[in-house]
Amino acid sequence: MTEIARSASGSNGAADGAAAPAAPAADERSYSPGLEGVIAGETALSQVDGARGRLLYRGYRIGDLVERGTYASVANLLWTGDWEPGHRLPTAEVPPAVLDILRALPRDAKPMDALRTAVSAWGATQPLPWPPTVEHARALTAFSPSALAAFARLRSGQEPIDPDPSLDLVEGFLFQLNGQRPDPGTTRALDAYFVVGAEHGFNASTFTARVITSTRSDIASAVAGAIGTMKGPLHGGAPSEVVDQLAKVGSVDRAEAWIRAALDRGERLMGFGHRVYRAYDPRAAALRTVAESMERKPDWLELAIQVEDVALRLLAERHPERALKTNVEYYAAPVLQGVGLTPDLFPATFSLARHAGWTAHALEQAGANRLIRPDVRYIGPSERDLPG
Ligand code: ACO
Repeated sequence: MTEIARSASGSNGAADGAAAPAAPAADERSYSPGLEGVIAGETALSQVDGARGRLLYRGYRIGDLVERGTYASVANLLWTGDWEPGHRLPTAEVPPAVLDILRALPRDAKPMDALRTAVSAWGATQPLPWPPTVEHARALTAFSPSALAAFARLRSGQEPIDPDPSLDLVEGFLFQLNGQRPDPGTTRALDAYFVVGAEHGFNASTFTARVITSTRSDIASAVAGAIGTMKGPLHGGAPSEVVDQLAKVGSVDRAEAWIRAALDRGERLMGFGHRVYRAYDPRAAALRTVAESMERKPDWLELAIQVEDVALRLLAERHPERALKTNVEYYAAPVLQGVGLTPDLFPATFSLARHAGWTAHALEQAGANRLIRPDVRYIGPSERDLPG
């Protein structure tokens, strides 16, 4: 046996018949499944206070930002730390090579798959040297709404619409999606949604973006990975399921029986529960206000409000040990539907909003980089010889 083979097989070269090395002592370090409660980094971007139901971006209350900010100003705040309420961020053009790829996708591709593909292709068209910069973050955040709008039009046989640089990001997205400028109330409602969706600590997709950035990969790779993570129904797929759920409930008098039966089947109620919040999600509170003040609110909003009370009561009854409250996705659904988006666009629209946070985390990670590479506890067989 060569030295290399010996070290690869773990053999210490002892004579045949010598005792096998003892199994390593069990690892006593603590392990938390799903990393729940583990502090895996430091951030100055947002503070999520799960116990009190508070959310701050760089110290500013989310409710104040929804009221007085726009998505462009909030994204800029996250990237730079500066509060400039008049800050603008128009949508950007889709490079021809990316448009060709979007045209080649099947029309029934999921919008999340299309967006992830578009971001990946965009990365191939850009010089994105290390480290990521605010300009990279701005360019990608401005590109993605145009790409999603282009895909949404292509799949229904329409041509994409070029960005209008006179429009700010959210208004521009709706214009490129629908071919007409939205009314101010619609823009305001979707902009509020983008503000509350912009950033939220070390959630799964943001953590993905930070892990990717920590390898000194580029910002497009980080965001493409984050979109893949957000695609899962436990993270970003819930609002469209909220709509399905309410359709199944049908009317408030059926709510209690329907919810009890769903919980008996072990199903989860979409739009409830959160890994961090034990109090009412402040983003849900902000979006409920937005939804209620919309001119064109969906007709099921009243049902959603009534069903929420029943769901909270039954969840408290079923899980007295764990406070399960309304999360952001519950009231995201009526806002997104109210601005005219189809439910299959909800997760991708959430991803557009989260671009600000993902890219701000990429900048923050790069600014004090340490490769993210945790340990894992080995639970397989102890060292043994191959049979035969
Ligand atoms: N409906 C019914 N029961 C629930 C719900 C729910 N929505 N959420 C949690 N529970 C139950 C679990 O079944 C579990 O019960 P068990 O111990 O008897 O199995 C208990 O509460 C604890 O739940 P966990 O799985 O430990 O909670 P976790 O922190 O992992 O989950 C999550 C958080 C994924 C959001 C969960 O609450 C859920 O699946 N909610 C529904 C989907 C949803 O709304 N997702 C959007 C989240 S917000 C966002 O990502 C932007």
